[in-house]
Amino acid sequence: MCGIVAYVGPKEAYPIIIEGLKRLEYRGYDSAGVSIINGGMHTFKCKGKVLDLEKIIEQDKVHGTLGMGHTRWATHGAPNDINAHPHLSGDSNLAIIHNGIIENYSTLRTALEKLGHTFVSETDTEVLIHLIEEIRNTEDLPLEEATRRALTKVVGAYAIVVLDKNDPNKIVGAKNSSPLVFGLGEKEFFLASDASPIVKFTDKVIYLEDEEIITIHRDGDYEIRTIENEVADPEIKQIDLNIEELEKGGYEHFMLKEIYQQPLTIAESMRGRLSADEGWAKLGGMEQHLNRFKQAKRIVLTACGTSWHAAMIAEYLFEDLARIPTEVEYASEFRYRNPIISPDDVIIALSQSGETADTLAAINLAKSKGAFIYGIVNNVGSTIARTTDSGSYIHCGPEIGVASTKAFTSQLTVLTLMAIILGYEKGKISEGYYRQLLSELESVPSLVAKILTKADQIKYIASEIRNTSNALYLGRGYNFPVALEGALKLKEISYIHAEGYPAAEMKHGPIALIDMYMPVVVIATNKSAHEKIVSNIQEVKARKGIVVAVVTEGDHIIKGMADFTIEIPYIEEPLSPLLSVVPLQLLSYYIAVMRGCHVDQPRNLAKSVTVE
Ligand code: AGP
Ligand code: GLU
Repeated sequence: MCGIVAYVGPKEAYPIIIEGLKRLEYRGYDSAGVSIINGGMHTFKCKGKVLDLEKIIEQDKVHGTLGMGHTRWATHGAPNDINAHPHLSGDSNLAIIHNGIIENYSTLRTALEKLGHTFVSETDTEVLIHLIEEIRNTEDLPLEEATRRALTKVVGAYAIVVLDKNDPNKIVGAKNSSPLVFGLGEKEFFLASDASPIVKFTDKVIYLEDEEIITIHRDGDYEIRTIENEVADPEIKQIDLNIEELEKGGYEHFMLKEIYQQPLTIAESMRGRLSADEGWAKLGGMEQHLNRFKQAKRIVLTACGTSWHAAMIAEYLFEDLARIPTEVEYASEFRYRNPIISPDDVIIALSQSGETADTLAAINLAKSKGAFIYGIVNNVGSTIARTTDSGSYIHCGPEIGVASTKAFTSQLTVLTLMAIILGYEKGKISEGYYRQLLSELESVPSLVAKILTKADQIKYIASEIRNTSNALYLGRGYNFPVALEGALKLKEISYIHAEGYPAAEMKHGPIALIDMYMPVVVIATNKSAHEKIVSNIQEVKARKGIVVAVVTEGDHIIKGMADFTIEIPYIEEPLSPLLSVVPLQLLSYYIAVMRGCHVDQPRNLAKSVTVE
């Protein structure tokens, strides 16, 4: 995963790189490093976060106007000082930072060892810099050409930056599958994994395409070539990103800020897309392909993690409201099981980051089979957004906390709109119900705001159950995927083992786990299966489990049975996940904070999973 950033220009490179790394740290944070060129190459790297790196820097050595930095999420070799990037060539003239995996690194390493190369780290990355060195020295080539030739021998994913200590005026970068953005400022130039380290300096960027190699000269000349050595003609794009969106804005954690932003971000996801009063709803990307959707024999949604949970809810929405058979696939599984895809299928890929390697691979497979692919993505200009045939952005702004919150509710907003539009267009829902759903959807931001006022009560519940080692989350129908999402949130940030189950499945196994120490979070807002959920709660109580119930306002029956209840406003069932997930986000947040966990950067995780 990793975050990479490089700078050349008139300013001191080190502060810009460190600030950039802090913005990119969501991508990986097990080790970090920098190389600055200044009459030689000065490299510092260590295990830990960017803050740990800053502690080992010898300030007098990092003056210089060209350099690069890396924050790592280890794939090959433990997170330690030696495996941290940058990695150096054998003669120490060249340095590389890398995001991705060199899949054939072992074969390359053996071949290079036979040529006399010795390696100090266990990483795949070090092999690549030795390969570049080997080609460059044997054939006496410029750095960019040696890099290009080396990459023709590489199988795998990469975004790389390569520096030569003897050339303080040039940066070489390249990408395949992993993202790399080139920022063009006023006499200064940047390369980074995303635009966040760049926005402060310029809004002009070029998103490099796969198998492109860029050479940037200090004087402003730059050239992009393909791996086949053809000159590319890229488009300079303007980014629309506000620096405040990348700050915590007074909140203790990004996750809390993002939970609290939801009334606003859900509204942003709908802006210009519906009017209940006027009785219309539209999504630009969908409108152009409406017949494809209406005639679809099947919808297949593919995603990972939290986005997969949003896809699960969409399965209920599309089948319930639009009566279109729908399937949901883990992108990683879809890809490897030779799926049956017909041209009448519509494939919907969901991704907050727009960079998830598994999802991208699933899209490419479906594409190769001629399917039409619709993307629901947050990160504007990301690889998935550019790879799909059409799509809708969710417009919730940068999500920085590793645990996804506002992106989930924005994905749900867009998916709900899609299902309502399709249900109406296909004549599966009445005009009256159509208008009612639109009007309730419009009211979601204010209802979420109301739920957020219950934070203190949720904090109290968190304090009562924070010491547990396990938790169960139960839900039915639309709220079953919400149970999965609630459990994932708790696992991710508090390291408590949690499982989500359809409430009725509990008696087929998990009930064996219930005792007086087991918190069971029940999402019990459903009108349709209320009595059944009441029975499930009784089954838990009979075994002395601790019930935390999320209920509809005024539900005295469940209130009388549960140990703790969180009341949320009434809404039509298809829209209920948009509300019921919010207390679960807050519950995991407070539990994690009380347990002293690193909420925004939980151990072993990264925000943008660019490896398969
Ligand atoms: C969410 O809290 C997770 N950190 C993770 O499951 C995430 O949803 C998953 O990796 C997919 O990411 P994407 O939406 O950026 O594709
Ligand atoms: N494979 C490299 C390493 O383990 C880069 C990892 C990554 O991009 O996540 O160091």
